[in-house]
Amino acid sequence: MRVMGRETRSIRLSSEGGRAPVPEVLDQTRLPHEVRFVRLESAGDAERAIREMWVRGAPLIGATAAYGLALAARADPSDAELAAAAERLVGTRPTAVNLGWAVQHVLDRLAPLGEPEREKAAFEIAAALADADVALCRAIGEHGESLLRRLDHVSGRNRPLQILTHCNAGWLATVDWGTALAPVYRAHRSGLPVHVWVSETRPRNQGAALTAWELAGESVPHTVVPDNASGHLLRTGRVDLVLTGTDRTTAAGDVCNKMGTYLKAVAANDCGVPFYAAVPGPSIDWSLGPGEADLIPIEERADEEVSEVRGYAVGLGQSSVRITPAGTPVANFGFDVTPARLVSGLVTERGVCEASPDGLAGLYPERAFPEGSKS
Ligand code: MRU
Repeated sequence: MRVMGRETRSIRLSSEGGRAPVPEVLDQTRLPHEVRFVRLESAGDAERAIREMWVRGAPLIGATAAYGLALAARADPSDAELAAAAERLVGTRPTAVNLGWAVQHVLDRLAPLGEPEREKAAFEIAAALADADVALCRAIGEHGESLLRRLDHVSGRNRPLQILTHCNAGWLATVDWGTALAPVYRAHRSGLPVHVWVSETRPRNQGAALTAWELAGESVPHTVVPDNASGHLLRTGRVDLVLTGTDRTTAAGDVCNKMGTYLKAVAANDCGVPFYAAVPGPSIDWSLGPGEADLIPIEERADEEVSEVRGYAVGLGQSSVRITPAGTPVANFGFDVTPARLVSGLVTERGVCEASPDGLAGLYPERAFPEGSKS
């Protein structure tokens, strides 16, 4: 998508001074105030980029980890070193299933190869995985655009289609296009009038900082609202659909996503507004079936993200201020689960389906739950 008028991706390969190419990522901790790409020179850099959220969003975490393993193979392609690097990468963030999926995908393909072949192969596999992510998101965009057009027709109102989203499930969360925002970009580019309500997404404010920045880059009309405003917007008829991403969706259609998603789904259901999640195949955890969503590990992050607010101060640059009394206990759960019964549908790269075991099995017959030995 566009950064200052130029097409780019959130992760890309860069060669400098004839040296071997390394991945570079847009440092999202600096957005929206500063656009800076950072080179990842080692698997340790990739690990740090994910842990410290220079990159974030389930699909992009997976792509970064795949390149992290390629960097590990460049340093030492032995089985032991690759396994150790894989474990460190997977340990960075627990909730997004794409991370473990991408790492296992690379390991499985490197395993049969001799050590001298592994570095080149690993970079090719990581690049293919990144390209595949773009293709998945583009397909979600196509199916999602049709859904938006259908809902626009149903809503029949003489105003732009009103979409409420949470966190950032745009191109910054993927390699390009995004999941929840891909249909919005396509609809906007093809002339369907849309307006996006952007939920700020405390404590890290991915909505206010990242989604707003992305939408502005594509000139999509949008308005940032505090997280607590969603219920009011929904109840007063200002929202035609809620559309979010996911970090892990179970084979039963339960959607795990950024903390606060569940409350939006509850309010949407109370108000008769459809709630959809955009779900690429690698975000589906086929090992979890009905009643098993609470087995998803929910990331708990640093207290300071809650007790302080980070922003840009004129003359000081990026800085934080404390908003709680010193020493106040806080809790910082990163994600919640929206049960399938509250989800109107899942927008996947294969089409839109019901959030249910049958709905997902219809689109992914080769993966349907119960998987493997589970029966
Ligand atoms: O903590 P984050 O910023 O990595 O959380 C991201 C989200 O919750 C996104 O909605 C999710 O990863 C889907 S991204 C296409």
